[in-house]
Amino acid sequence: MGLLDGKAVVVTGAGRGIGRGHALQFAKAGAAVVVNDIDAEVAAEVVDEIEALGGRAIANTGSVGRKAGADSIVQACVEAFGKIDVMMANAGIARDRTFLKMSEDEFDEVMNVHVKGTFLCHQAAALQMKAQGSGGCLISTVSAAHFGNFGQTNYAGAKGAIASMTYTMAMELARHGIRVNAISPSGTTRMSDTYVGPDGKKHPMPFIDPKLNGPVLVYLCSDEGNYISGQVFGTGGERIALLEQPKYGHTLLMPGGWTVEAVQAHFKANLGNRLEPLGITKPPYPFADGIHPPQPQ
Ligand SMILES: NC(=O)c1ccc[n+]([C@@H]2O[C@H](COP(=O)([O-])OP(=O)(O)OC[C@H]3O[C@@H](n4cnc5c(N)ncnc54)[C@H](O)[C@@H]3O)[C@@H](O)[C@H]2O)c1
Repeated sequence: MGLLDGKAVVVTGAGRGIGRGHALQFAKAGAAVVVNDIDAEVAAEVVDEIEALGGRAIANTGSVGRKAGADSIVQACVEAFGKIDVMMANAGIARDRTFLKMSEDEFDEVMNVHVKGTFLCHQAAALQMKAQGSGGCLISTVSAAHFGNFGQTNYAGAKGAIASMTYTMAMELARHGIRVNAISPSGTTRMSDTYVGPDGKKHPMPFIDPKLNGPVLVYLCSDEGNYISGQVFGTGGERIALLEQPKYGHTLLMPGGWTVEAVQAHFKANLGNRLEPLGITKPPYPFADGIHPPQPQ
């Protein structure tokens, strides 16, 4: 008896890496799985793996960043399994480049697959869930890169957008019984192997099995998880972390409104000494001594 027996699940970008891990875990929990990936060969391999384990799966090669692709993915699920219960929007690409060198194409490609792909797949799935009257679960994929990450303006922006979409969609879709959450996964994959640090070099990272994100996903998508919506969880390895969502912090009030002189008098002593650290590892705020134009050589 699996926690997702009888459920029909789509995982986008499931031909390799983290998506493959999700697909295998969903199948192990009893769900029938649409293994979507633009790479037909790897999608077929994952279907074979699931079938070899006694599960049910079909492959689909729709591209998530186009409406026709997203619609075909949901349609394939309904045709094969009679309905859709879960849309796991996982497909992703990286086109890393420092901000000043990043091309328009590199920006657009990343926004298309991540932001538009998540929008289109979730909308197609939610419309079908509404028509079914069954409720359902939408899960998106963000990344800690959205806290800020060197060389990833496009990717960090896309992941931040997806987090914000999660909060909004959760508010709108609860009336249809649809829950919306996101995970910020981790795993050693083709994508994680491309990351270089601010020094422009690759740094060896310990191996993390991409399948370890799956168990919490199974719980989130099960009926036991029916109280969870609008949340983002850090997953993978040994952790499940609840992401603290952005909110207004320390606030200064000036009766009647602020003047420039009042800002000058109060800002540095009351907000300037509390500025937020940047990036994934949150080192101490680095610019307290000011940021200055480069000195002439
Ligand atoms: N690997 C990590 O540590 C990590 C960390 C944070 C977030 N993520 C996110 O997890 C997700 C999976 O990443 P991964 O590391 O497994 O990458 P990956 O490159 O190993 O796998 C991504 C898969 O998505 C597929 N894909 C790409 N564009 C597609 C499209 N338009 N339509 C359908 N499929 C498409 C690729 O063919 C590939 O098989 C991504 O959203 C990524 O941003 C990964």
